[in-house]
Order: sequence, then structure tokens, then C-alpha cells
Amino acid sequence: MTMMNAAVVTSFDEPPHYQPFAAPVPASADEVVADVLAAGLHPRVRSGAAGQHYTSCGTLPMIPGIDGVGRLPDGKLVYFAAVDDVVGAMADKAIVDPRRSVELPDGTDVAKVAAAMNPAMSSWVALRRRAPLQPGQTVLVLGATGNAGTMAVQVAKLLGAGRVIGAGRHLARLQALLPAGADDVVQLTDDADATGNGLAAAAAEADIVLDYLWGSPAQQAIMALLTARPDRSRALDWIQIGAVAGPTAEIPSVALRSANFRLQGCGQGSVSPRGYLAELPSLVAEITAGTIAVRPNPVPLSKVEEAWTTSETPGERTVLIP
Ligand SMILES: NC(=O)c1ccc[n+]([C@@H]2O[C@H](COP(=O)([O-])OP(=O)(O)OC[C@H]3O[C@@H](n4cnc5c(N)ncnc54)[C@H](OP(=O)(O)O)[C@@H]3O)[C@@H](O)[C@H]2O)c1
Repeated sequence: MTMMNAAVVTSFDEPPHYQPFAAPVPASADEVVADVLAAGLHPRVRSGAAGQHYTSCGTLPMIPGIDGVGRLPDGKLVYFAAVDDVVGAMADKAIVDPRRSVELPDGTDVAKVAAAMNPAMSSWVALRRRAPLQPGQTVLVLGATGNAGTMAVQVAKLLGAGRVIGAGRHLARLQALLPAGADDVVQLTDDADATGNGLAAAAAEADIVLDYLWGSPAQQAIMALLTARPDRSRALDWIQIGAVAGPTAEIPSVALRSANFRLQGCGQGSVSPRGYLAELPSLVAEITAGTIAVRPNPVPLSKVEEAWTTSETPGERTVLIP
């Protein structure tokens, strides 16, 4: 058995530990063993390592990491999606199915690609696969101050939105969206009336909402927007993507009857693996061309425990480097 170093989760209550682990072995002729060069520490990776993601199967020990950049045995540099939830990307080596990877040009900033793909994919896939964006449409990003939300503002513009509104709670990060491409911003505060009025004034005619929050902010925003809509028969596509503000929201039935309100989600399961794969090459091309801003924070994999327990600097994405 060949050994490697990896981030290993032995208990869902503890961060992963850096320790030796058996190097993975391909399960079929479609798979190869890649040298991992960078793997992003995304919220999805944290929830998987805590046994809390909806795809988690509860198996321990496990190696977290859903994607990364690696070098294949034939020398190709690739972005890859991990093939296995139990033996993932945060290790010296990972199993890669070359059909689920995208070749990168030599000289690519591997930390940037590893940092950006997961957050950028959330809006890219939503606007291409769930509610295909029509040129000139208006998009509201609810929860626009995080990595995924900030990228969503840029992605919406890149894919042809006419007007993009960012809504979030942190004022300075919200204001920074204006030079980054947002046409307007709305601050979400504890004052529900003021927040509702702000959303109604800026986004009553939105065509698509990319929702990273859910919970009570989404619940309030749905009613604020629907009641302010000049033409309620005009479609409002609400795409549920993240739930940082709460796992549940109470939606009055009248929201669905009184307006052309179309609620759906975007994530693993609602979009097929084939659907995701089809979008990867064009998204990789935008990220390597630098059109989607990203700030990676590279950390050696040996420091995984520290990286796990240290809060991320807002706007940065931690990337583990084996
Ligand atoms: N479905 C998918 O395909 C997909 C893909 C990627 C990410 N996601 C999900 O999207 C979410 C965001 O991911 P990320 O990578 O952007 O994470 P991130 O960089 O950590 O950003 C999270 C942001 O959420 C904001 N936030 C937290 N609680 C909030 C609240 N109660 N009200 C308003 N804002 C709040 C924080 O904003 P401030 O502190 O600045 O206010 C923070 O910047 C996560 O739930 C993630 O799992 C889904």
C-alpha cells in the first residue's frame, strides 16, 4: 500500500488532521491518480467534513475537498471535480476522472482557479441551466457580500444582464460591489420595513433572484418584491443557492398564487453532473482570463487544522496547497 499525506476527518466534531493515509487507487479504467496542486476550502467542503451536507453519507474517516487543480499522469494540468465524497481532494493525491476535468494552460495560477470555481459556478450554472438569463434582464443577488455573491454580480453582467442589484448586510463590502459591476445596492438590516422598502425600490422589476441567504431575509424579500411588482404576471425566477441565513423559510401560499413567482434551487442534484460538466470549460476560461475577480489565500495542507479553525478574511478564499 502506498501512503500519502492528507487532511483526514476522523470525527465530525473535529477539524481534519494532517496525517498519513493510504493513497487512493483507481476503481476503473476511466480514473487516474493525480498529484493535487490546490484545493479550495469552500463552505460546501466544511459542511461535508462536518457530516452536515445533504449529500453526506456519514462514512469516516474521510478526506474533504470537492474540487481542485491537479497534474495528471500524462502531465496535463487540470481543474477537476472530486469523484468521491469520502476520499476527496485535500491530499497529496486524488482520483480524477479526466472526463470530469478541464485542461488548464501551463502557467495558470492554480490557487486562483481552486478558489474561484465553486463560488463562481453557483451563479454561472443558475443563470445558464436553471433560469437561462436573457440579454438585458434584471438580476438581484440576495447575499452579495460573500465570495459567491460577489462573483454572482460579475457573472450576471458577463452573461448579459442589463441591470444587477446586490443586497447584503455588510455596508463596506456592499458598496465595493458598485465599482465591481453592480448598478445598485441595498443594505439588509434588522429594520424589516426599511429593508423591504429598499428592495422594493431597487428590484421590484427583477427577472431573476440569486438567493444565497434563505431564512428570514429571503422570506421577507420575497413578499417585499412581489407586492411591489407593477405587473405581477411578469415572471420572477427565484433561484435558491445558499442558506447562510437559515435552512428554512416560511413562504405564504399567496406568494405563489398572486404572482408569477417561480421558485427553484440550484445545486448538486437539481442540476445533473452532465449539466455541470458542460458549463465547466467556459467558466474556467473566464476565470483564467481574469474576468471574475478572486482573492485566494494559499495555505500549506500541513496547516489544515489551523486553516479550518481560523475565520476567513472576508473576500478571500482559503486554498490548501499539498
Ligand atoms: N448551490 C451551489 O451550487 C453553491 C455553490 C457555492 C456556494 N454555495 C453556497 O452559497 C453560500 C455562500 O457561499 P460563499 O462561498 O460565498 O461563502 P462566503 O464567502 O463565506 O460568504 C458568506 C457570506 O454570507 C453572508 N452572511 C452570513 N450570514 C448572513 C445573514 N444572516 N444575512 C446576510 N448575509 C449573511 C456574509 O456576509 P457579510 O458578513 O459580509 O454580511 C458572508 O460574506 C453558502 O451557503 C454556500 O454553501 C452554493
